[in-house]
Amino acid sequence: MGELHVLDHPLIQHKLSILRDKNTGVKEFREIIGEIAALMCYEATRDLPLENVTIETPVAVGTFKRLAGKKVAIVPILRAGLGMVDTIIDLIPSAKVGHIGLYRDPETHNPVEYYCKMPPDISEREVIIVDPMLATGGSASAAITFIKGYGCKNIKLMNIIGCPEGVEVIQRDHPDVDLYVAAVDERLNENKYIVPGLGDAGDRIFGTK
Ligand code: PRP
Ligand code: URA
Repeated sequence: MGELHVLDHPLIQHKLSILRDKNTGVKEFREIIGEIAALMCYEATRDLPLENVTIETPVAVGTFKRLAGKKVAIVPILRAGLGMVDTIIDLIPSAKVGHIGLYRDPETHNPVEYYCKMPPDISEREVIIVDPMLATGGSASAAITFIKGYGCKNIKLMNIIGCPEGVEVIQRDHPDVDLYVAAVDERLNENKYIVPGLGDAGDRIFGTK
């Protein structure tokens, strides 16, 4: 089964409490989504392979570590996932970015795909799918299935808030995918929103409500 990593670092938890506050405005919400994404990326890339390189410092020659050229792709689920991209590519400037557009049908809550554009060499890359919310798990599961269709073998999912239902769906549908979240909340409500959650992530990032 895919491993569930709950990233309970104090900085992440502190920032997450600000996101949850209904009085947090768009500017601060957007900034903090990015800050949390960067902190989570730090943990989610902990297993990237390193190789030895010989470097001459101004004082001596030594053997040091560098990333072993493993290629990374960040794939935000539109729209809300976009809020997590910029700070991650600041940390991994060589990463390429694929986009997958999915929205939840308001009646059925099932994901509907409306856009997809991936880097041509996506199958050779370690893929990190990003989206702030893992609710029913339908969107993330569909995104993973879609990306596997390109031949990708190495996929991680990064969500800021998950819930037991969503985690179960990902572990059932994609036991090969490790999941990184900052919190697993209590449950879904009758509208399939995470409780207590933070509301509609896309609307709060883009100011559309
Ligand atoms: C939200 C969120 C996830 C999805 C999670 O997107 O950003 O993509 O819902 O729900 P699920 O786990 O039940 O599928 P939404 O469909 O509201 O679209 P948006 O990002 O365009 O607002
Ligand atoms: N999508 C959101 O943006 N928030 C939720 O709580 C559930 C789905």
